[in-house]
Amino acid sequence: MAVGLRGIVTSCRAVVLPRFGGPEVLELLPNVEVPDLKPSEVLVRTRAVSINPLDTRMRSGYGRSIFEPHLPLILGRDISGEVAALGASVRSLSVGQEVFGALHPTAIRGTYADYAILSEDELAPKPVGVTHVEASAIPFAALTAWRGLKGTARISEGQRLLVVGGGGAVGFAAIQLSVAAGCHVTTTCGSQSIGRLLAAGAEQAVDYTAEDLESAIKGKFDAVLDTIGVSETERISINFLKRGGHYMTLQGEAAALADRYGLAVGLPLATAVLLKKQIQYRYSHGIEYWWTYMRADSEGLDEIRRLSEAGKLKMPVEKTFPITQVGEAHKAKDKRHIPGTKEV
Ligand SMILES: NC(=O)c1ccc[n+]([C@@H]2O[C@H](COP(=O)([O-])OP(=O)(O)OC[C@H]3O[C@@H](n4cnc5c(N)ncnc54)[C@H](OP(=O)(O)O)[C@@H]3O)[C@@H](O)[C@H]2O)c1
Repeated sequence: MAVGLRGIVTSCRAVVLPRFGGPEVLELLPNVEVPDLKPSEVLVRTRAVSINPLDTRMRSGYGRSIFEPHLPLILGRDISGEVAALGASVRSLSVGQEVFGALHPTAIRGTYADYAILSEDELAPKPVGVTHVEASAIPFAALTAWRGLKGTARISEGQRLLVVGGGGAVGFAAIQLSVAAGCHVTTTCGSQSIGRLLAAGAEQAVDYTAEDLESAIKGKFDAVLDTIGVSETERISINFLKRGGHYMTLQGEAAALADRYGLAVGLPLATAVLLKKQIQYRYSHGIEYWWTYMRADSEGLDEIRRLSEAGKLKMPVEKTFPITQVGEAHKAKDKRHIPGTKEV
């Protein structure tokens, strides 16, 4: 770490991605520049970051139409740490305060660094009684689930929700947020996840590796959050929705189409593909079809903090790695879908 004349950090250790590839391309550099803060930004001294599937996908080239011009870039969305400095207009946080939060999916300077920069609305006070490691595993996944459930489907007490892939971080957050909102939740997951998801309040957990989902899942639903989003889960989910229900997939095609055809063609094409599906499913099934993307939401992050403090929203952390072993951490995440974190 280097400190400038006014006591402000000007460079620090960071894990950079110089080119797309396997875990071996990640490089820990000792002196990466820390840019000046814009008025609404916050410099956070990193204590823990988590590895999301987006990190490993970005590393492999997903989103290259957006990210390639910005190489070398820093991966990482989630963070838990302490406020080191504040931009001129930040009012809700103070230096030294413990915070957690997540960057927008398209941010170029990620959190795999000793110091990260997030905007004020991407951060909230760290939940009391939760470690930095535990806290860093929560925001990106929980905000993604929050956006679908609260922003799109506007779930309310008594509604029935199906979470496809409840064993993953977003699915597990979705189950806990829905249960806290008084909804009845059914989920699909692997056999090793069943006990954890039932303990979190899911009323039915169907093993996708052993059971026939179409005969095992009971009743109709007001909303489906499909974290897997392949054509099979989409088809099954849509048939389980009540008329007027919401189908939300996390596998929106905007980035993939932009990567394939370039931003200028890919993004309008994605809008057209989405619109076509929306019209098609409204006509054939009377349901609303959505691509769900994570967005910063300070109100949502505050509620996530409250639920986490109340013990109603937890994320299991199976393994932690020091920043020097970030390649190993990515290898582990690539091999098995470990909701793991990397301590800094
Ligand atoms: N659109 C967005 O903004 C956004 C945001 C966040 C994530 N995502 C995407 O959403 C997906 C999930 O993210 P995550 O963070 O929750 O991932 P994760 O924590 O790595 O979870 C993956 C889990 O998916 C489960 N799974 C795999 N195949 C399944 C199937 N056929 N049916 C049911 N469950 C299955 C496995 O659960 P078991 O252990 O129970 O087998 C696995 O643990 C990723 O593809 C990610 O890139 C998108």
